[in-house]
Formats: sequence, C-alpha cells, structure tokens
Amino acid sequence: MSAAREHFGSRLGFILAAAGSAVGIGNLVSFPVAATKSGGGAFLLVYALFVFLICLPVMMAELALGRKSDKDPVGAYRQLSGGSTLWRIPGWFALITPYMIAVFYMVVTVWVLGYLVETLKGNLDVLATESYFGTFINSKVVFLYLIVLMLLINGVLSLGVKDGIERAAKTLMPMLFVLLLGLVVFVLTREGAGTGLSYYLIPDFSKLDAEVVSKAMSQAFFSLSLGMGIMITYGSYMKKRDSIPGSAKAVALTDTMVAFTAGLLILPSVFHFNPNIDPSTLSDSSAGMIFLFLPKIFLSLQDGIGYFGASAVAAIFFFLVFVAALTSLVSIIEVPIASLRDERGMSRKKAIYTVAASQFILAVLCAMSFGMADWLTQFVKLAGSDKSFFDLVEILFYDTILPLNGLLVCLFVIYKWKRANFDRELQEGDSGFAGTLSQKYVNFSLGTFIPFILLIIFINTVALKFF
Ligand code: PHE
Repeated sequence: MSAAREHFGSRLGFILAAAGSAVGIGNLVSFPVAATKSGGGAFLLVYALFVFLICLPVMMAELALGRKSDKDPVGAYRQLSGGSTLWRIPGWFALITPYMIAVFYMVVTVWVLGYLVETLKGNLDVLATESYFGTFINSKVVFLYLIVLMLLINGVLSLGVKDGIERAAKTLMPMLFVLLLGLVVFVLTREGAGTGLSYYLIPDFSKLDAEVVSKAMSQAFFSLSLGMGIMITYGSYMKKRDSIPGSAKAVALTDTMVAFTAGLLILPSVFHFNPNIDPSTLSDSSAGMIFLFLPKIFLSLQDGIGYFGASAVAAIFFFLVFVAALTSLVSIIEVPIASLRDERGMSRKKAIYTVAASQFILAVLCAMSFGMADWLTQFVKLAGSDKSFFDLVEILFYDTILPLNGLLVCLFVIYKWKRANFDRELQEGDSGFAGTLSQKYVNFSLGTFIPFILLIIFINTVALKFF
C-alpha cells in the first residue's frame, strides 16, 4: 500500500501554491495587452465579472472533485462516476491537456530565461534589435535552457507537495508581489505614465463586441488555471478542514489583482517609450510583446537612468515573468505526475522521470517549429494556413480542449456526481456556506449558463480555428 496522500501544510500554503499556478505569463503580459486593445476599463470590468461569476464556481467544482476523491483527475472522474466508462473520457482529457499545454508553455518560458540571462550579461541593446528574437529562438542554446528549466521544475517537484511545491510558492510568490509593486512604482513615476494609465483604466464601451467578450472569458479561464486538471489535483492535496469557497475566492482575487497590477506596469511603460503610440497597433500575442516590444521599451529607459539602470529594470521584469511561469509549470506538470502515481502506483521519482523524458522530446519538437525543421514548421494546414507543431499544440489544447474540459467539469459535478454531494463537499471546512446566496448561485450557475457559455466558446473556436 502506498503512503498516505501528501497534503499542503497550511491554508495559506495552498492559496499561494494555487495562486502560483494561476499567476503566469497570462497575467503579466496577455492581460494588460488585451485590456488596452479592447476598451481598457470596459475590458477590466467584463473580465472581473467573468472571473467571479463564471470561473470561480468552476474552480470550486474542480477543487471539490479533487478533494472528495483524493485522486488525480483520471481517478477523480472514475471514482465519483462510480466507474462509468463514458465519464472516463473527461478524466483523460484533464490529464492530456495539462501535459500538452506544459510543453508549449515550457518553450515560451525557455525564451524568457534566455532573455533574462542575456540581460544579466549586459546585452539589453542586442535584445532590442529587430532581428534578435528570430535568431535566438532558432539557436541551439534554447535546448540548454530547456534542460536548465526542466531541472528547476523537476527539482521542486521531486521534493513533494509540502516541501517542494508549497515551499517554492511561499518563497517565490511574496517575492513576485514585492518586485512587481516595486516596478510599478518606478514606472508610474516616469514621464508619460499618465497617458498610459488613462488608456488602461478609462472604459471605452464601444470596443466591447462579441469577440472581445469571448476573449475576456477565455483569458479569465486560462488565467485561473481551469480546465487543466490542476485544481482537481491541488484539491486532492487540500485538507478537509479548509474551506473550498474561501480558498478559491482568495486565489481568484490574488490572480486578478496581479493581472490588474501588471497593467499598471506595461501600459505606462509603453507610453513612456512612445507618447504618440496607438495602442491598437500593439501585437496581439504575448510573445510579440515580451520579446519584440518590451526590450525596446526597457532600453529607452537608459536616457533617464543609464544603461545599467535600464538593464536592471529589464532583468527584474524578465525574472518576474520567469518566476510566474515557473510556478505555473510546477503546478501543471504535477498533474501527470499525480496520475502516474495514483493510477500506475509509480513512486514520485519514477513518475517525474517518465513525464520529464517524454515532455523533453515534445518540447524539443515544439522548439524546432520556428524554422529549425521544415516539417515541424509546416506541420499541418488548418483553416487554410500552415501551422507549425507548436501552433497545433496550442490550438488543439489551449484554444479548443480547455473550454471543453470546463464544460465537462460543470456537467459532471451537477448531473453525474450530483448537486447534493457537491454541496456536502463544499460544506466540509465551511459549514457556514450552506444556504447562502453564494451557494445557491454556484449550484444554479454550474448546472445552467456556465456550461452553456463554455459550449459556445468551444463551438466558436472549432469553427474559427479548424475550418
Ligand atoms: N494561469 C497561467 C497563466 O496565466 C496559465 C498556466 C497555468 C499555464 C499553468 C501553464 C500552467 O499564464
């Protein structure tokens, strides 16, 4: 018989670990860019509504599934469905999705690490040149960084839930908050900051169309690490005496605050760099922002604080993004590890080696999708255009299966596992939750409009990306 299941040591430990998962590149970069391009304060408002009215109930559902079953996602669906064959499918989805998302997210994180190292070496001016990014992602050194990154992630994971994941989150997350705030204060005192702030904060409701609303929804869902089996797995490490609704609220609030704060950093910086910029011309992709645009912005700071100062600011920023991505990767890779342990009875060590070896190969293929190998660069044709292997993984798992997984969680919890059981699990550690308006809302929404909204997003993505 295997040893007793590991648990997070404290409620705060859980909240920080889950927030570590939720706070990632999505918060620090994608969110501010999306907000600026899509109506500023109006986007913020829609985003916040989605986080609290739609994503929060889904997070509670995932945590409850994990904690009740004490299992990884595959085991959770199997156990709570009473062994149904059909309901095994979402369990498998909730395992394969994080496994594959981890692969493409690792590649982007490797680039961040590369930019951090170059900045520390004094090469910010080189990073700011137009052609650097293309050259960098096609150089062999990315494989070296990939190895370093995997050693770091798996080093944390090998120490286990409490001594690895929780301890890393307890050290890194407060550091991330402090550095982020420090950078914000610095940027807000630069010239041009006010213009950036007004673009970010003043609502422009005319920009809100169906596409923007759907973007806000997907962004919120991804940002809270939902649909990836992570919250199911982390739920299985929660103690019975801790409140699921309370902890989920704390995680959602932290994640949203960090995203909001990151906007206070990015936008004023953009306007400091170019007061006449039209924000709608900013690149849509986080990668474009981090690797092409931001290095130029950081370099421009040298007029005020010198090259060394500008490099220090850049290094802190890349470090922040790196730490945020690292704690997200730790959480997402814990999912397949938990599955191998729970389903195959492997030791933590053996599970780590198995996952790491196979993910390394896939990550190498993703990293070679940008020109190193033609067959990977033009891997498939979707919706009339060539897509690389990297693109395919992103489109399939991040864009498409993620909302589907969310939809399946809602349907499963309410209609298969059943409301009464779900309610009982939410009341464990939070007896006051029963009968409250929040409880009624969570129950009603998960069985009705939340799955409906996720279904529409899913159908829309399939239509858009594949045909
Ligand atoms: N929440 C993360 C983000 O905002 C998403 C993520 C979670 C990515 C876990 C990878 C692993 O970037």
